[in-house]
Amino acid sequence: MNVTDPDEDMHTFTDKASDETSDISAEARKVVVDFTGHKALNSVDLKLARGEVVALIGPSGSGKSTLLRTFNHLQEPTSGEILIGGKPTTGSSRADLLALRRKVGMCFQSFNLFPHLTALENIELAQVHALGRPRKEAKERGRELLQRVGLEAKADHKPANCSGGQQQRIAIARALALDPEIMLFDEPTSALDPELGVEVLNVMRELAESGMTMMVATHEMHFAEDVADRVIFMADGQILESGEPSVVLRTPQHARTQKFLQAVIGR
Ligand SMILES: Nc1ncnc2c1ncn2[C@@H]1O[C@H](COP(=O)(O)OP(=O)(O)O)[C@@H](O)[C@H]1O
Ligand SMILES: [Mg+2]
Repeated sequence: MNVTDPDEDMHTFTDKASDETSDISAEARKVVVDFTGHKALNSVDLKLARGEVVALIGPSGSGKSTLLRTFNHLQEPTSGEILIGGKPTTGSSRADLLALRRKVGMCFQSFNLFPHLTALENIELAQVHALGRPRKEAKERGRELLQRVGLEAKADHKPANCSGGQQQRIAIARALALDPEIMLFDEPTSALDPELGVEVLNVMRELAESGMTMMVATHEMHFAEDVADRVIFMADGQILESGEPSVVLRTPQHARTQKFLQAVIGR
């Protein structure tokens, strides 16, 4: 998580294969997403360093979801480009694009688990389909990840028999089962009661501490301040302010950021 640790940098530059030498995990270059005249993203530049945790904040409609979706290629930019691990994704062959997309896991506000499958089957199926991993191995990895999110006891339960917080943790385990290099979260706790949101945030905190590169759209300002390395404030499809969480959240420079923070936390 500490991206400025010089030893870590040395390690990165000496030990890794060529396309992994970059300390940039993903990058948006002048990304525009135009929905018939309305710019959901208006020339966004953003570099995500390896192991960095970025919290995306901003009012509803500011472009947070669209930005996350462009990083996972659920949304193609109208212009500009997305790079993953230093490789441009526009113009890639379908096979290359699938490989790049697999490096980027995503969790949504709605958990999107298959209701007719158990927790373990949901996690297993993703690996078999996306990676062609043998079932036995997929099951083992699934059990390991359920344990990691504190839900080994729920392996044989269907989503309907799990709380919202448990379902979201299963969805996180499912995304992790594909061995992503980057995890994107789009308001993962917004649909949850606060006490259930906490279980999910704790899992995300551990993931951040394990060194995962993460970008999280969230209204959880405590999480942003405690866990993120950087907070980005978006409005009208643009990044208006970006910096250390304590600085952006406590001494915002931009009037829009001040207004937003006043509304959400009364600062
Ligand atoms: N598929 C779409 N078609 C048209 N407009 C969209 C679409 N998705 C998002 N938008 C618009 O783009 C803007 C940014 O939306 P979004 O990225 O969802 O913001 P946020 O996640 O910050 O609430 C909003 O004005 C929204 O209405
Ligand atoms: Mg959104």
